[in-house]
Amino acid sequence: MDKILIDGGVPLRGSVAASGAKNAALPIIAASLLAEGEHRIRNVPDLADVRTLGRLLGHMGCQAERNAGEKGALWVRVPAAVEPEAPYELVKTMRASVVVLGPLVARWGKARVSMPGGCAIGARPIDQHLKGLAALGAELHLEHGYVEATAPRGRLHGATFTFDGQTVTGTENVMMAAVLAEGETLLRNCAREPEIVDLADALRGMGARIEGDGTDDIWIEGVESLRPIDHVVIADRIEAGTFLVAGALPGGDVTVKGCVPAHVEALVEKLRTVGAQVLPVEGGLRVVGDGRPRPVDVRTGPHPGFPTDMQAQMMVLLCLADGSSKITETVFENRFMHVQELQRLGADIAVDGKTAVLKGVPGLSGAPVMASDLRASAALVLAGLAAQGTTEVHRVYHLDRGYERIEEKLAPLGARIRREKA
Ligand code: EPU
Repeated sequence: MDKILIDGGVPLRGSVAASGAKNAALPIIAASLLAEGEHRIRNVPDLADVRTLGRLLGHMGCQAERNAGEKGALWVRVPAAVEPEAPYELVKTMRASVVVLGPLVARWGKARVSMPGGCAIGARPIDQHLKGLAALGAELHLEHGYVEATAPRGRLHGATFTFDGQTVTGTENVMMAAVLAEGETLLRNCAREPEIVDLADALRGMGARIEGDGTDDIWIEGVESLRPIDHVVIADRIEAGTFLVAGALPGGDVTVKGCVPAHVEALVEKLRTVGAQVLPVEGGLRVVGDGRPRPVDVRTGPHPGFPTDMQAQMMVLLCLADGSSKITETVFENRFMHVQELQRLGADIAVDGKTAVLKGVPGLSGAPVMASDLRASAALVLAGLAAQGTTEVHRVYHLDRGYERIEEKLAPLGARIRREKA
């Protein structure tokens, strides 16, 4: 297993570009199952999760290929008939694979998708995906660890459905099912993340009729068929946010290109509160870290709240603050796995249920640490950049699921970072 080695204590300076958003690319790639033909999806990050979804589409009889000549373009060929199955072996490595369920049952009238299990950050049920699909008329059976879904008479029908709680991939799954259903659908209490808006944009480009994405209520008028996708994926606000935090570390000065300011507002507000300067520049944002951060309390929440996917990275900044901060995680039940690793670097953090209380320390000191999940890994890299001495981040495969060659992006900013192949 690869590891990342960082000789920390050097403030980062320079410019870095955000890649395409993993969490927008994945559902958009799954949306290709809604139409036969050749789909072109651009600005797709080259990540383990994207390759896993490509393998899953391959298992169904489609072809997903990167076009070497066209940077970041993924071509997906969907044949006249697919094998509508997502096997356990692939779903277990990436729970987001469940986003194929809606498109499969909508377009092909049936689907057999392995139930994703729990994961390092919590239980992560899919009850809302299933309730939403059932409201559209899907018949669902859970057997041998699989969800088997069928559309009676081959087509779903429109309906009004209210999500019990906001779910990002749940909203995406049901939205993708409704675009080919017969009649109108009103989805209420939808998640409002920018990735949902990007998916809706891609679907509209295919001929779908959707309004209200980005708000609580999404209205969809089903159409009989869709054309292939030709879409450019939005920039990754979480990767961008990770680099913004790197710039906010003491002495940092980092410009993140491609970052959409409206997508990172909650983070930027907190960065300004801790004393970093955040300046709009052409095509992105520049962050200048100003000495030791001031403490601030953070509470995660669905968009436009502070993203749970930035909680671990923000924690690194607050570990170094000149005073005490509190971080409350409201989205996932078990997303403090990074705390014990940060403690190994000298952070002073106490966790009580959903809240972590941080007493800022003047500095961290490098040590070997173990990544537990994707965003926790990113936090450990940031902590290693700030810490004096050498930090070794193990289990880097978590990081590779969501960050495109992070060491190659950080090194030009002055980071002394390298990957050691296993
Ligand atoms: N939930 C339910 N029932 C459901 C679905 C969700 O109770 O049917 C609960 C979850 O257990 C959780 C909350 O609702 O407590 C929110 O979960 P959500 O469904 O919104 O999460 P997700 O769609 O599984 C996506 C991202 C995650 C990100 C969350 C929250 C993708 C592929 N994944 O997951 O990204 O943390 O939204 O913003 O879009 C990551 O990239 O590192 C990552 C984990």
